[in-house]
Amino acid sequence: MRLIDIPQVVAIDQITFVPPWSARSYAYEIAESTYSHMVVLEEIEEQPSTRSLFRWLFSPPRAQASHIVGYGGLWLISDEAHISTIATHPEYRRRGWGELLLAGMVQKALVLRASYVVLEVRVSNVTAQNLYHKYGFVTVDVKKGYYHNNGEDAYDMRLDLHDEAITARLEGLFARLAGRNGYEDAFTHADRHPPR
Ligand SMILES: CC(C)(COP(=O)(O)OP(=O)(O)OC[C@H]1O[C@@H](n2cnc3c(N)ncnc32)[C@H](O)[C@@H]1OP(=O)(O)O)[C@@H](O)C(=O)NCCC(=O)NCCS
Repeated sequence: MRLIDIPQVVAIDQITFVPPWSARSYAYEIAESTYSHMVVLEEIEEQPSTRSLFRWLFSPPRAQASHIVGYGGLWLISDEAHISTIATHPEYRRRGWGELLLAGMVQKALVLRASYVVLEVRVSNVTAQNLYHKYGFVTVDVKKGYYHNNGEDAYDMRLDLHDEAITARLEGLFARLAGRNGYEDAFTHADRHPPR
């Protein structure tokens, strides 16, 4: 995630979370926080087909268009990776993008040598819980009244990256994703600060 991505990220955040994060919070996570790793999933418009090549030759090609379909955030504090946020645009859900974002952040946690990944999720958010269960997260605690807007409880979920059964399962999921989606990963092995 770059500073220029913030307006698109905030637009998704505002139709997804109550309360949403502010643009200032994202700017802090990207440019100031020393432990935050933010990611966006960007859909890039396809190159024109050969049929339109003729027109291309006589008109300068447009810059490649892209838009953000989802985003996530990971905090690495000591050996704990904490998923701070994850969302896909409502019009792009159920297409595998949320899974790709989660997989990307878990892979990042492995690269950063975290021992485990943690997150909180609303007890009513069965959709997100299904996604986390798919990746082997287990509920370790309930945080009473964790969400200030309505006093809802949170499940405290954890993925143990030292558990060999879990890492073997993760490898299978990562391999399946790599084979399924045509995507480029510029996040997992990137430095914390991407080019502006
Ligand atoms: C949670 C969220 C990121 C999932 O994104 P998505 O792009 O729809 O997810 P995917 O299509 O990759 O689905 C991955 C898994 O999520 C679960 N899932 C997704 N949509 C679901 C639904 N409508 N009902 C039940 N499970 C669902 C399934 O386990 C699915 O795996 P499957 O395809 O093998 O069944 C998305 O629903 C979202 O942005 N929700 C609002 C924000 C949010 O709740 N974030 C989590 C805060 S803790």
